[in-house]
Amino acid sequence: MQQRENWGSRLGFLLAAAGSAVGLGNIWRFPYLTGENGGSAFIVIYLVCVFVIGLSIMIAEFTVGRRSGLAAVGAYKSYSRNWTFVGVIGVLSGFLIMGFYPVVGGWALAYIVKSITGLTSAPDAIGDVFGGFITNSFEPLLWMIAFLAVNVAIVAKGIAGGIEKASKVLMPVLFFLLIFIGIRSVSLPGADAGLSFLFSPDWSVVTGATVLAALGQAFFSLSLGMGCMITYGSYLNKKQNLAKDAVIVTSLDTLCAILAGIAIFPALFAFGMEPAQGPGLVFVVVPSIFAAMGGGVGVFFSTLFFVALAVAALTSSVSLLEVVVAYLIDEKKMARKKAVYLASAVMAVLCVMASLSLGVTSHITVLGVGAFDFFDILTDKIFLAIGGMFLAIFAGWVYKKEDLKAELTNEGTIKMALFEVWYALIKYVIPVAIAVIAFMGVKSIAQTGLMIFGLAVIVVLAIFSKKL
Ligand code: TRP
Repeated sequence: MQQRENWGSRLGFLLAAAGSAVGLGNIWRFPYLTGENGGSAFIVIYLVCVFVIGLSIMIAEFTVGRRSGLAAVGAYKSYSRNWTFVGVIGVLSGFLIMGFYPVVGGWALAYIVKSITGLTSAPDAIGDVFGGFITNSFEPLLWMIAFLAVNVAIVAKGIAGGIEKASKVLMPVLFFLLIFIGIRSVSLPGADAGLSFLFSPDWSVVTGATVLAALGQAFFSLSLGMGCMITYGSYLNKKQNLAKDAVIVTSLDTLCAILAGIAIFPALFAFGMEPAQGPGLVFVVVPSIFAAMGGGVGVFFSTLFFVALAVAALTSSVSLLEVVVAYLIDEKKMARKKAVYLASAVMAVLCVMASLSLGVTSHITVLGVGAFDFFDILTDKIFLAIGGMFLAIFAGWVYKKEDLKAELTNEGTIKMALFEVWYALIKYVIPVAIAVIAFMGVKSIAQTGLMIFGLAVIVVLAIFSKKL
């Protein structure tokens, strides 16, 4: 067998996995979902989803990935052909998430330049600039292509070199910037309303849809449910402690999301803005904070923030592209470069549709939503959660317990204290919990038709997967 590429070092793997997890999901998506779902109660549910379900699934993905030494589809297929479809759902999710993620990555790139050339200082005007920009039919497309091109350049070079280097420098920068912005935000007059929005739960706003949104966000933010961490795990050497690494990645990711919340909401309330304003949140609030600092300082930090955001987005999107590319290499025997070009060409087309659906083609909807929301809701609220559920069933009921234990204890050379707890969660609790949340969510969400469509796609894939 051909020698599989490996991460350069332990730190290299951790940074890459954390780099995959920390991205637009934490800084763009988490705050606006929190805003739309009423704040603190959503955060509490999110945290439970992250530490009970997400962490366990991440451990399972690392384990299955390293055990098989194969990317998502191969990891399932090599153990049982009936389970190939779960890997295939993952590859499909990779395509679909990459059908809108680079659009938002492009916004971050554009905002680097807009920060330098000067955003106006009144929050209202900053909001108008954002609205005008994303609904434009030309400018965002250029930035999206630029963002995707960087992905192609990195992934075409192979796993270890490109991805590791990019994460090592700019992830820490982003982290400290978030802390800096948070301090600034909390010290603005009128910030306490934001803190109570974040930290004193109002349970009356919680519905099935809220819980599903929190679960979906946990999967999205931790890069779970589509085989991404299986693929990264497959490049991992046999000495690392999988459970410990999963705890580190999960904690870091969650810390970044909470920091993003603390950076945004106090300032938002201080400026008298609307928490439920949707996907524009970070692109409006953060520039407003910096504009309030005024002059060169504001410009400097605003630029730095969007550089770091773009890099965080990049270290995530390369992991998504890598899932699709690894599938084409491992299963379709394609050369890496060819696989990268092919996959990214399809993604570019999806992204054009997604971007335009916010502007000129906003009247075109399928099952009640435009292309951007279609790709987003289908993956985040259905494919990832159901993919995670199947992974848990696969690990708990198909995989041999001895195999899991051997892999998690590095063939008995290290201990995993909570192995039995983890195993019970994976085998019994998580599959049931996800099924219940998905069921409640489908009932209370507005896009029921889309949810049913997604479930039908999964059934069809399960039937035809042996051919894939
Ligand atoms: N976790 C990333 C973010 O928060 C996005 C991401 C990367 C992802 N790889 C993934 C989401 C795999 C789901 C599955 O921005």
